[in-house]
Amino acid sequence: MIVIKIGIIGAGKVGTTIGKVLVDYAYELKNCNASNENGTFDEINDSKEGNIFKVSKTNTKSDSTENELMITGFYSRSYESAKESAEFTKTNAFKEIDDLLSVSDTLFITTPDGEIEKIWDCITEKNSGKEASGKNNFENNISNKLIYHFSGSLSSDVFTNSDVHNMSCASFHPVFAFSDKFKSYEQFHNVSITADGDEKAVNALKPVFEAIGCKVNVIKPVDKARYHAATVCASNFVVGLVGFAVNLLETCGFEEKAAYEILSGLTTKNVENIFKTDVYSALTGPVERGDFKTVEKHLQALNDEEREVYEALNKEVIKIAEIKHSREAK
Ligand SMILES: NC(=O)c1ccc[n+]([C@@H]2O[C@H](COP(=O)([O-])OP(=O)(O)OC[C@H]3O[C@@H](n4cnc5c(N)ncnc54)[C@H](OP(=O)(O)O)[C@@H]3O)[C@@H](O)[C@H]2O)c1
Repeated sequence: MIVIKIGIIGAGKVGTTIGKVLVDYAYELKNCNASNENGTFDEINDSKEGNIFKVSKTNTKSDSTENELMITGFYSRSYESAKESAEFTKTNAFKEIDDLLSVSDTLFITTPDGEIEKIWDCITEKNSGKEASGKNNFENNISNKLIYHFSGSLSSDVFTNSDVHNMSCASFHPVFAFSDKFKSYEQFHNVSITADGDEKAVNALKPVFEAIGCKVNVIKPVDKARYHAATVCASNFVVGLVGFAVNLLETCGFEEKAAYEILSGLTTKNVENIFKTDVYSALTGPVERGDFKTVEKHLQALNDEEREVYEALNKEVIKIAEIKHSREAK
């Protein structure tokens, strides 16, 4: 049996949501296994160590015989946040990071991206015995711990010299908008997660997320920046693109509200078609029809800045149209 004791550093939207989702899953499993020797769920919640559940062969896609998972609790910049998250997830709040470290063998760092490296340095300094407080190294020993962050823009490379510290590290990026610390868990279903890092760390956590219905894809750390650029294109750039189209309509005299009304059906249907099939089947419009006179008219109607945006995007549309036509010709 593999026992994973997870401590969460950063009691914000991601940490609290993931903590809550894992705790709820534990509760479900607990109900399935009413005869579990660990006693009632409430008894477990009251325990010092946080709640416990089992990820067993019969309940998950995991190929391990039986993993036991425990959420030890939260440490955060402010104890108030940690307490709030602990109460919400029925786990524990820790005033000192050392106390969380001493009861956890797995750490989720769910602080803002800019803090991850600082937390890593703080933890590894404890391991190297450099800590100014001179605390007992044995208690703080973090060797063999599994450490994860959940950033999309940083790879697991942020965990420098993890081998020297004898730790296994990975990053697990959920492709999901965590907008609310206490509500996002309600929508956390079938989420895609992109992992990179140490094989041991990836393989330890992958079955846990698969057990709660996530799809975990593994990439190389070196590809993380390109991967994140892709997710930005598919989310933020859609916003930029619709904003660009709304501005063009406004310059034709439409009110903003009317502009959104005009574009709503067009954009929604297109996005729906792309994900029902692919970009090739979804493509319509002048480029797809080979109507380059219309494209020329558009370019003449736009100012320099607008033309630059239009031409850059049109290059991508031309590539898609070429592939579509070559496929159709076969
Ligand atoms: N939000 C999203 O949609 C999303 C999606 C995917 C991935 N992510 C990634 O998930 C991570 C967390 O994002 P988030 O949206 O959950 O951020 P968030 O809501 O701002 O939460 C961050 C939490 O970290 C705590 N914190 C900050 N500095 C700390 C430190 N030095 N030590 C301990 N705790 C500290 C904050 O503390 P206090 O509350 O105690 O002040 C806060 O509770 C980031 O890496 C982000 O890139 C976010």
